Amino acid sequence: MDPLRDSKSTEEPEIEITADVPGIPPSDLVEKMVYDALVWSSLHGLVVGDKRVQNSGTVPGVGLVHAPFSLLPVSFPKSYWRQASELAPIFNELVDRVSLDGTFLQDSLSRTKMVDAFTGRLLDIHSKMLEINKTEDIRLGLHRSDYMLDGETKLLLQIEFNTISSSFPGLSCLVSELHRNLLNHYGKDLGLDSKRVPGNTAVSRFAEALAKAWNEYNNSSALVMFVVQSEECNMYDQHWLCAVLKEIYPFAMDFFFLYLDGKTVAVVYFRAGYSPNDYPSEAEWEARLLIEKSSAIKCPSISYHLVGTKKIQQELSKPNVLERFLDNADDIAKLRRCFAGLWSLDDLDAMKTAMEKPDLFVIKPQREGGGNNIYGDSVRETLISLQQEGSEEHSAYILMQRIFPTASLAFLVREGLWLQDNAISELGIYGAYLRSNDKVIMNDQCGYLMRTKVSSSNEGGVAAGFAVLDSIYLT
Ligand SMILES: Nc1ncnc2c1ncn2[C@@H]1O[C@H](COP(=O)(O)OP(=O)(O)OP(=O)(O)O)[C@@H](O)[C@H]1O
Ligand SMILES: [Mg+2]
Repeated sequence: MDPLRDSKSTEEPEIEITADVPGIPPSDLVEKMVYDALVWSSLHGLVVGDKRVQNSGTVPGVGLVHAPFSLLPVSFPKSYWRQASELAPIFNELVDRVSLDGTFLQDSLSRTKMVDAFTGRLLDIHSKMLEINKTEDIRLGLHRSDYMLDGETKLLLQIEFNTISSSFPGLSCLVSELHRNLLNHYGKDLGLDSKRVPGNTAVSRFAEALAKAWNEYNNSSALVMFVVQSEECNMYDQHWLCAVLKEIYPFAMDFFFLYLDGKTVAVVYFRAGYSPNDYPSEAEWEARLLIEKSSAIKCPSISYHLVGTKKIQQELSKPNVLERFLDNADDIAKLRRCFAGLWSLDDLDAMKTAMEKPDLFVIKPQREGGGNNIYGDSVRETLISLQQEGSEEHSAYILMQRIFPTASLAFLVREGLWLQDNAISELGIYGAYLRSNDKVIMNDQCGYLMRTKVSSSNEGGVAAGFAVLDSIYLT
């Protein structure tokens, strides 16, 4: 059985919802289920490289461990699921429109650039493309929009929008399958129905988008190139996408370590390049520039990459900014409804409130990959020290309303061991967008990623060690 083929649809399952989610399973049942889940994960490739084992991030097949997962899917109201799914194509379109407005991107990030060298380098590449009037006729986005359900306001609020290296399209599908499989076996004991876990097609739809982009490029000997980190414990997630792509579409694929091998590249898919660590020398920056200048379809292009920065997220939340890019008032209202409070650190009122009630805010730099945000008392300390400096340093950050999802009991499984704790979850919705000039070839919601972490943890990354992979149980 290929679990990825079994996930037929991300459509809502046709089910009658009658009962609430039942209580906590007894620990002997949990033990049995964990054992089965560990076997299933090992047999089906729900795995990551084990950081404790040498070469596990470089040599496939060496030092594998099951990916951290939640034993049972987390309950999630159907109406919010529908809302999050509906937002995907609207955000895809928004990203595309914003990416075409070079002046907006440059202006919005101009002060960030002065204090954040990494964003500055990305903007420099963008400026060079503007100077040479480089246009991207074929544009591919493989995105993931992340949300949390705020317990108090009962609003689904966006955490952020990822336009580069949206991770876990492969493993998230497997977790949905794992949960369906467990509920098929133990559902009766638990009073749960496997059909209420929606199918997850992230990996096959992302593969489809890459293949369609390759097709648009129209050169049968050209490659799809994956740009990856030289050490990557999450390599199996990437290999799943690569494997599905190869299986469905028999064209050449390559993993890229800064050489091109004399072949034309049709599509460049970045699973690296989002962090300063990915550019240890000028050679990597030159490669990024070379790729940007080339005729290859970039996923993402430098413009798409910049649209995904936290600063642009904050700029887009200002009054009348969405209206610059979108015409449909309903779409604009839907987007706005999911925007949390976002402020620049120039906003004196917001700064004052954040210093008084730091627990209600998060400070974010322009970084990806988790572990960079500032919470709690450090919010106040950071704001005070930034104010004292009196420099432009504060332009490197944005201030965001902290979202507080309602916690519920979860069984988190990591390295073969399980623990029971109060946990909160974050829903990521994958979206794919492919456009060739005026023709929109694909603009879809593609699947989902649920991540669950103990409620006391601030950060949320799975690879960063904070969260576990999860799926949803529609209620
Ligand atoms: N406003 C918020 N309220 C509560 N928690 C938040 C908020 N913003 C971020 N978080 C938590 O911090 C984590 C990381 O934040 P964010 O996604 O903005 O950073 P990132 O470095 O881009 O992460 P990723 O690697 O997932 O792209 C989130 O997954 C979430 O768990
Ligand atoms: Mg991110």
